[in-house]
Amino acid sequence: MLRRVLCTMLLMGALPSLAEASQGHISVVLLGATGDLAKKYLWQGLFQLYIDQVSSGHSFTFHGAALTDLEPGQKLMFDVLKKLACPPDESPNRCAVLKDQFLKLSQYHQLKTSENYTALNREIEMLLHQEGLKEAGRIFYFSVPPFAYTEIARHINSSCRPPPGAWLRVVLEKPFGHDLESAQQMAAELMSFFREEEMYRVDHYLGKQAVAHILPFRDQNRQFLDPIWNRHHVERVEIVLKEIVDAKGRTSFYEQYGVIRDVLQNHLTEALMFLTMELPGNLSKAEEVLQCKLQALQSLRGLEKQSVVVGQYQAYASHVQEELQKGQDYVSTTPTFAGVLVHSDSLRWEGVPFLLTSGKALDERVGYVRVLFKNRAYCTQSEALRDAGHSQCKPKQIVFYIGHGALNTPAVLVSRNLFRPIMPKSTWREVVGQPDLHVFGQLLSDYYMYSPVKERDAYSVLISNIYHGRKDFFITTENLLASWAFWTPLLNSISHQAPRLYPGGVENQHFLDFEMMSGELAFTVAEPVELLNPSGPMPSDYKTIQSKFRQSPLVSAWSEVLISQLASDVEKTASRAVARSGQFHLALSGGSSPVALFQRLARHHYDFPWRHTHLWLVDERCVPLTDPESNFFSLHNHLLQNIRVPYFNVHPMPVHLHQRLCVEEDGGPELYAKEIMALVANASFDLVLLGVGTDGHTASLFPHSENGLEGAQAVVLTESPVKPHQRMSLSLPLINKAQQVFVLVMGKGKHDITTQISRVGHEPRKWPISGVNPSSGQLVWYVDYEALLG
Ligand code: BG6
Repeated sequence: MLRRVLCTMLLMGALPSLAEASQGHISVVLLGATGDLAKKYLWQGLFQLYIDQVSSGHSFTFHGAALTDLEPGQKLMFDVLKKLACPPDESPNRCAVLKDQFLKLSQYHQLKTSENYTALNREIEMLLHQEGLKEAGRIFYFSVPPFAYTEIARHINSSCRPPPGAWLRVVLEKPFGHDLESAQQMAAELMSFFREEEMYRVDHYLGKQAVAHILPFRDQNRQFLDPIWNRHHVERVEIVLKEIVDAKGRTSFYEQYGVIRDVLQNHLTEALMFLTMELPGNLSKAEEVLQCKLQALQSLRGLEKQSVVVGQYQAYASHVQEELQKGQDYVSTTPTFAGVLVHSDSLRWEGVPFLLTSGKALDERVGYVRVLFKNRAYCTQSEALRDAGHSQCKPKQIVFYIGHGALNTPAVLVSRNLFRPIMPKSTWREVVGQPDLHVFGQLLSDYYMYSPVKERDAYSVLISNIYHGRKDFFITTENLLASWAFWTPLLNSISHQAPRLYPGGVENQHFLDFEMMSGELAFTVAEPVELLNPSGPMPSDYKTIQSKFRQSPLVSAWSEVLISQLASDVEKTASRAVARSGQFHLALSGGSSPVALFQRLARHHYDFPWRHTHLWLVDERCVPLTDPESNFFSLHNHLLQNIRVPYFNVHPMPVHLHQRLCVEEDGGPELYAKEIMALVANASFDLVLLGVGTDGHTASLFPHSENGLEGAQAVVLTESPVKPHQRMSLSLPLINKAQQVFVLVMGKGKHDITTQISRVGHEPRKWPISGVNPSSGQLVWYVDYEALLG
């Protein structure tokens, strides 16, 4: 049938003549031809390819394939093809003719068994042979779930490769793995069937016109951008994809992936690379582009837990419970919203914050890449005058507007006080839009704004790039693995972190706003109480639970909630102490767990009586205070530098006297003890915050320590089994004199020790923490779910 059609069309002159078709014949095989993606985008993209390339000298046939039997499959597929739309820029008559041809050149195949693949190959060969057509190449578009890739790849490799001289291009859709390991595994499997140059991994954001124009824009505007496209001039960059839709109907996929894997690891990272990579000498050389991109990926600084804020829309849990048949008590920690602060360590970008944000169930649908420049000018005129001209005081920004939102079109915006950009006239035209509209804090009339002459959906752009063999629009194995290598440690570190709940839509208000502080991200407002303590169908695990641990009160919750509870309990204790005695003496431990508390206190407790607070150290490592290992250094970084506490009230441990560290005869412990006696009534701290080590140590009191577990010495030098070995510590008897002792235990790594100490009695020599037992004060345990439940 196809053969007859091709032949008749060639004779009718509807297709290029055989001589004209000298570029050869291209067979496009669409696997998953009746699936959602094919219906929504791929057939339309293939039709567009045909429209654009009908006179290119290539002839085409289109083979839709699926597992469905021939007849029903054929019907399903042609139902889709009949509905193909004509692009608005195409004349209706020409389009109707081309659509008719396209339908005739398309055929359905059932591709299930190896015989089916062999038969398809035979058909293609026969057709070409009988028409005397030279074969240019074959495109196999895998619009199927990744678990089917290996088998299809095997069949194609063994029975559908084109003959020498013709190319093979296989097109693959994400997800390309779930983390670095699974991506490596999948890549290795594919590489046993295909060569790197044969694989086209799709990231449809690379086909979005505004994203695809970032590199050409940078290239064509080098004269303006060269001096300013760097850390000296760029204040920050925002890469954003906000969505209104939620994950309903997709939870079986979404629950395993979440927003970071679904959108940030791929779409937003790709846009980030186009912004940060060095420009290759020649943009048309795909290899150079890909190499520069790889380098940019490799210069990203590793992400820490503190680089991210995550959220989950409130109805997500019930969507998961319904669709995945989970019980009411099922708790998902899959984020549906994430904000991530990324830094590049390249010379060009060091210090510039790149904020990547995406989420479902937000208040609007919009995507953009916004580069905000520093503004050093101070304008002396009145605002009316300032607004009238292209004042240097207005924001300076370049926005690659991906789509939707207020503009509802792809666009490139450049603040008029920056420069008038050079844009390719054949593909982008200058537009005025609604001049009074406010976008990114400026009137639209303050920008030069350009939109594509022909708006194309991402898949049409990508299919055209596959046809042209533009590998730089696709994800290579090296780039894919580099991206997973960057994201995987963060994904692992937050896999059990409870996301902040948000109501969804406009009701989110400011709950998801976040801010950068000391290189970290945090939500700007506290979590709404009604979401923390929902009375509806939410699992009770989201609440803080109160019970007993070692006969003392226990507060337990997911870490974020736990920390906010602890911080407010610390503040309450402080206010009570100040009301009682005018002062609050707080002794703080080091290590990683209290860092979150320090940050919380620094950012959310503006009423904290810092002016009346004395800060003491529970323990210290014998290193200079400026050493990152020092507990004081961490306290300074995460708390002191962000609050106003009088200098006189800060009491670091004297580990560094006479230019040497913790030498007994320098009498550091005695000095500290004296200072405590002098300032703290009865040497009884108002509050001591402790942690627990995996070996049961607390403060710097280790199992079998010779000093500090008992005896009269208030402050002692001790030996740690891990570096730095020497420490200074408050002794157990001094700790036990305190009026309140809070013990904070967080993380899965602490589960075993938590279980163990829940069972043991008073055995400080084995487990120093078990010796914490305030003689007249109160002990409270703050243990997160991971430490408590594993
Ligand atoms: C897909 C994600 O890759 O991109 C979806 O899987 C997301 O979750 C979509 O909705 C966004 O793409 P677009 O083109 O609608 O912005």
